[in-house]
Amino acid sequence: MEPLLRALWGTALEQDLSELPGLDNLAQPTGVLAEAQAVVAATVGSDRAWFLVNGATGGLLAALLATVGPGDRVLVGRNVHRSVIAGLVLAGAKPVYLGVGVDPQWGLPWPVTRDVVAAGLAAYPDTKAVVLVSPTYEGLCSPLLEIAQCVHNHGVPLIVDEAHGSHFAYHPAFPVTALAAGADVVVQSWHKTLGTLTQTAVLHLKGERVSAERLSQALNLVQTSSPNYWLLAALEGAGVQMAQQGEQIYGRLLQWVKTFEWPLPRWQPPGIPQDPLRLTLGTWPIGLTGFALDELLQPQIIAEFPSGRSLTFCLGLGTTQTMLETLADRLKSVYTEYCHNAPLPPLAIPSIPSCQEPALSPREAYFCPQRSIPLRAALNEISAETIAPYPPGIPTVIAGERFTESVIATLQTLQELGAEMVGASDPTLQTLRICKV
Ligand SMILES: Cc1ncc(COP(=O)(O)O)c(C=O)c1O
Repeated sequence: MEPLLRALWGTALEQDLSELPGLDNLAQPTGVLAEAQAVVAATVGSDRAWFLVNGATGGLLAALLATVGPGDRVLVGRNVHRSVIAGLVLAGAKPVYLGVGVDPQWGLPWPVTRDVVAAGLAAYPDTKAVVLVSPTYEGLCSPLLEIAQCVHNHGVPLIVDEAHGSHFAYHPAFPVTALAAGADVVVQSWHKTLGTLTQTAVLHLKGERVSAERLSQALNLVQTSSPNYWLLAALEGAGVQMAQQGEQIYGRLLQWVKTFEWPLPRWQPPGIPQDPLRLTLGTWPIGLTGFALDELLQPQIIAEFPSGRSLTFCLGLGTTQTMLETLADRLKSVYTEYCHNAPLPPLAIPSIPSCQEPALSPREAYFCPQRSIPLRAALNEISAETIAPYPPGIPTVIAGERFTESVIATLQTLQELGAEMVGASDPTLQTLRICKV
């Protein structure tokens, strides 16, 4: 073996096994993998759990392929991750986007509300499924109990992207889990908040509204037939760790977090359940953007993501008391240095209206002939690309939507602030890709 790899990996490559006797088969598990998945399902209260090796992305693609088909109507939170849009391309369903409000002081999106879901179902009675993200990147949760009731009264399944909330089941101080609230299909990105390897995630099913066979079939469409056993072993290990010690580990961490005082305001919108381990601090009072504070803290401290007026930190299993002390000290010294700056003016990030049908579905836009045109000529054209400035990774425009004045202005504002234009064919935004309809 190549010596550098040997030094890096030790004996790990010798244990890079595949579907050998005794190791089961993820495509049709009946042995050790079935047992490990059953432990996870029992611990978090689902009827069945599937290990995923292509992230929550694979689970979301499968959830859509298992519940909606070509031409079916589906209500989709407008703040979803681009993997949900990819699922719509594959399934061919027609989305109606459910809007989200934006906190005017923070310039950050709130989660989808029950009223918006109810209005969507009333306006589109032919809806076949509802897809929401909860918690949001900033750890804010939709009122899932009320939403699940409303969606089930309509006779359709609720799919929840709980990518950032995989740890909620393991301590009572966290918001209610999507499964406990009544969601039918839940996708969790374990590598984000639990102690597993990158790419690992879990898909859960509860109840009878969605077929387990259909989910298995869809997963076998979108996942590799040769899953890496390091990923599967990491999932099993994390499941056991959480079942045995989750409450104790999170109890300790939550205790420390409570004792810290931050010199900047913390985003805690009243009445919205929030993950206590997502720390979003306002940077505008000291005249800094989140991007500027992020740079000042690096390389000692790496935040989760900056925005125009705030910086979000993700606390978790790897966070120690010393790390929190370092963060508090660094923030205090930055505050002392910049507290005489004039505060930043508010950012004009528009709220997304409650129910919007795009000009084309993501699938129609994907298969449509396309061309690139200068940004200034794109007004009212239909986008052929989903552009999700990172951070925060929520699409500003989804393929099939029109480039309105507000979309173009938001893209420009976020670019000026330093956001990376993920999904843009021209990341400099000099040109945009449109559908030739
Ligand atoms: C809300 C949300 N959903 C889904 C995903 C996709 O997760 P993964 O990277 O595990 O595929 C992400 C990734 O950042 C996300 O933020």
